[in-house]
Amino acid sequence: MSRVFRRAVDPPVAVRAEGVWVEDSAGRRYLDAAGGAIVVGIGHGDPVVAAVLAEQAGRLAYVHGSAFTTETIEAYAAELAEVLPVPGARVFPVSGGSEAVETALKLARACQLARGEAERTLVVARNLSYHGNTRGALAVSGRPRLRGPYEPWLTHTIQVPAVQEYRCPAPGHPRGCGAWHAEQLEGAIEQAGPRRVAAFIAEPIGGATTGAAAPTDDYWPAVAQVCRRHGVLVIADEVMTGFGRTGRWFAADHWGLAPDILVAAKGASSGYWPLGLCVASSEVHDTVRTAGGFVHGLTFSHHPAGAAVGRAVLARLRDLDLVAAAAAKEPLLLAALRSALGDHPMVGDIRGRGLLAGVELVADRETRRPFPPGERVIERVVAAARRHGLLIYWSKGCADGVAGDVVVLGPPLIITPEEIELAATRLAAAVAEVAAGAD
Ligand SMILES: Cc1ncc(COP(=O)(O)O)c(C=O)c1O
Repeated sequence: MSRVFRRAVDPPVAVRAEGVWVEDSAGRRYLDAAGGAIVVGIGHGDPVVAAVLAEQAGRLAYVHGSAFTTETIEAYAAELAEVLPVPGARVFPVSGGSEAVETALKLARACQLARGEAERTLVVARNLSYHGNTRGALAVSGRPRLRGPYEPWLTHTIQVPAVQEYRCPAPGHPRGCGAWHAEQLEGAIEQAGPRRVAAFIAEPIGGATTGAAAPTDDYWPAVAQVCRRHGVLVIADEVMTGFGRTGRWFAADHWGLAPDILVAAKGASSGYWPLGLCVASSEVHDTVRTAGGFVHGLTFSHHPAGAAVGRAVLARLRDLDLVAAAAAKEPLLLAALRSALGDHPMVGDIRGRGLLAGVELVADRETRRPFPPGERVIERVVAAARRHGLLIYWSKGCADGVAGDVVVLGPPLIITPEEIELAATRLAAAVAEVAAGAD
């Protein structure tokens, strides 16, 4: 009997990983087309990052962030600021995405208080969003299945419609979607009452729920303008999309979005350390500082080893030119998926930016009707893919919060064209198997 409170029933035992490949204790090799959970950007088994981590841990593994700063963290933040879309970025490192979101929400509140706007207690978020599993992060997440058991504990969040081209609710779609969503947001802010909303949080490109669903180009400029007009802080959740995943350093860069607060994690460390980041603009930082500081703290925030890993990963992304590589490989990935799966009756949509792609599975291509959740279609595809030596990420609920199956791909950015082809072929085999009735 295992003493581990496992997340899965009898999972294989992983023993090593290198590049895009993970090997288990039975010697089986899996092509990791998801980088775990869209985490591993620079690839598995990078010896440079491993060596940096060992050196930092050996020299200075830990000091408390309230007592010391370190050369490593100062250097990391300075280097990071060069690529962040946040004006005058100030970096608050934490241990993961949910912690980064918690920090961002508290920071937004602290900023509004410091501005003398104590009535701004509300947050607007989007339906079908995912911002994490801790209580504050879950409260702003539009994922009914995850919220369900904990609903009585979740603070009130105002929800506006999700943004997804394939199922866009805007009446004039595909024209005027940005303006329509901006109107929805403005309506929600006005309905909440004057000066009641502290922040709007959203994923610049939808990830864990909607599966690589990008907005139309007129979305972010229109939405950011509404927020500015109403004194609402923009929190860009780039936990999944940051660090080159979508072919730009941050997905906000696709639209020149300059958020007040940005959160990142996953690709920040590529999985070599549990690292999350909450980044404040200089305006937010200075406002909070001047008013007495940020009432917040975590034992493992500002961790020297995390900073060393983050810095080494940043250097690898730069040295190997992986952000440009993600952009360059986007057409390869989408073409491979379309050629292997585009005509399959179960495949409704294939979409993506950079090396973040979604393959949405539907019961009816004409009407875009999703499969009933009870058919466990996505779970069966994940299992079949694994049998074919392919690891994929997935989401359920992209259509209405409950139904809607989407395969999410986010391989390490170092993936080769041959490995992209192989991933698409294996995924097609898995989908065909499920279509034929495999469990
Ligand atoms: C956009 C987004 N925000 C927050 C989180 C939560 O991050 P973590 O799982 O590291 O707590 C995730 C995780 O998938 C995410 O995709």
